[in-house]
Amino acid sequence: MRTPIDCRGAVGKSILSRGRAAAKQVDEVAPAEKALPPDAEGARLEGVPLGTIAREVGTPCYVYGAAGIREQYAQLRDALGKLDARLHYSVKANSSIAILSLLRDLGAGLDIVSGGELFRALLAGYKGKDIVFSGVGKTEREMEEALRAEVLLFNVESEQELHALNRVSKRLGVKAPAALRVNPEVLVDTPHPYTRTGEKGMKFGIPFDEALSVGKIAATLPNIRLLGLDMHVGSQISQFAPYEVGLQRLLHLRREIERATKISLEYLDIGGGLAVTYDAERSVDVRQFGKVISALVGGSGLKVILEPGRFLVGNAGVLLTRVLYRKRSGGKEFIITDAGMTDLLRPSHYNAFHRIEAVKPTGRTTVADVVGPICESGDFLALDRQIDDAAPGDLLAVQSTGAYGFVMASNYNSRPRPAEVLVDGDKFAVITRRESYDDLTRNEVAVPDWRSE
Ligand code: LLP
Repeated sequence: MRTPIDCRGAVGKSILSRGRAAAKQVDEVAPAEKALPPDAEGARLEGVPLGTIAREVGTPCYVYGAAGIREQYAQLRDALGKLDARLHYSVKANSSIAILSLLRDLGAGLDIVSGGELFRALLAGYKGKDIVFSGVGKTEREMEEALRAEVLLFNVESEQELHALNRVSKRLGVKAPAALRVNPEVLVDTPHPYTRTGEKGMKFGIPFDEALSVGKIAATLPNIRLLGLDMHVGSQISQFAPYEVGLQRLLHLRREIERATKISLEYLDIGGGLAVTYDAERSVDVRQFGKVISALVGGSGLKVILEPGRFLVGNAGVLLTRVLYRKRSGGKEFIITDAGMTDLLRPSHYNAFHRIEAVKPTGRTTVADVVGPICESGDFLALDRQIDDAAPGDLLAVQSTGAYGFVMASNYNSRPRPAEVLVDGDKFAVITRRESYDDLTRNEVAVPDWRSE
């Protein structure tokens, strides 16, 4: 399942720190001779005890560390060196407005895939020129919204979409800046087939052998400005080969399109996909990644766009959950938590592995399934896991859930979605309130307002 190939980075480790040693570090920043509060004995994220957050915000809740996000951003930015490149954070990974704002302060642009994400981006203070609009099924309404916002690029995924974009632009009396999202048709190794996108026969992108002819059509459409090429090979990728092969193909295509259309392209969007560590695997060596990309596109004269999502936020978050019950059934141990697949879908949807740590370890371990309260047998956070022998009331932290956690949460079983909390140093703040029962039913009507004709 986890077979990193080109990874030479450090081995993944927990982002939590523990007990008095961690508390002391914080005290060193703000010296104080005060007694440690009871929560300080448990795990902390940055300087804040998770026990304090659980007590004040309740569980389940997502907790993100700002420092971790800043670190990842700086690492990837630095790895790109002098390359004319910008990081356009992929909003789908974690779209909370406070996270988008944090990334804006660092200089990030955004990659969006819907009108809703555009709405969030604008609320977080991004300008159109900071935004590229990807997605395989943009509606005309979404196109119109993005044109009005004057986004930097539409990554167009089919010939029909190109014509629709031309039509909408004509109606608004503008020219749409467009890049062709091409399926580079490379072999990609990801932990789950659902996170591969750049292989032949996927729904994403323009099939490679049609890209030149779609490029020629784009050049003739009066309300399209063809500006670039784009690819996205998949997600949780720890090899560089798919990027290298894909980029070589795109650079070849660029020459063909430029020769045929006499248009000089400006942008090369290489998508997202860089892996994070979920277990004890080695992290991606981003400096090496930067070198590989720079060697290929350094002298191309193209502005490079990267769309990292998971890499920036994945390891920066935990899902904090409380043990409700313990039970034994059929010779198996179960730890029943107040978080389930409605809060974190990845284990049940992708069979994804997330490390689980007790906030205050008991010192004993057991082997158990960690399961949620949802009425589905597929509702689990971990199966057959060697884990702390946690008792009802104990807190568990499900690690590396900063990306594709909260954003994939649902209201199934009429469960309000959890709160989100941001930690920065020794401060924390609720950035998304826990949903209420009113939120669940806000758009519903008890007595249908029937209409006919
Ligand atoms: N750009 C495009 C066009 C994408 O489709 C994606 C992710 C990204 C960028 C960001 O990829 P990242 O850097 O985060 O790998 N829900 C799945 C992941 C789906 C990824 C979808 N596309 C999961 O939980 O693993």
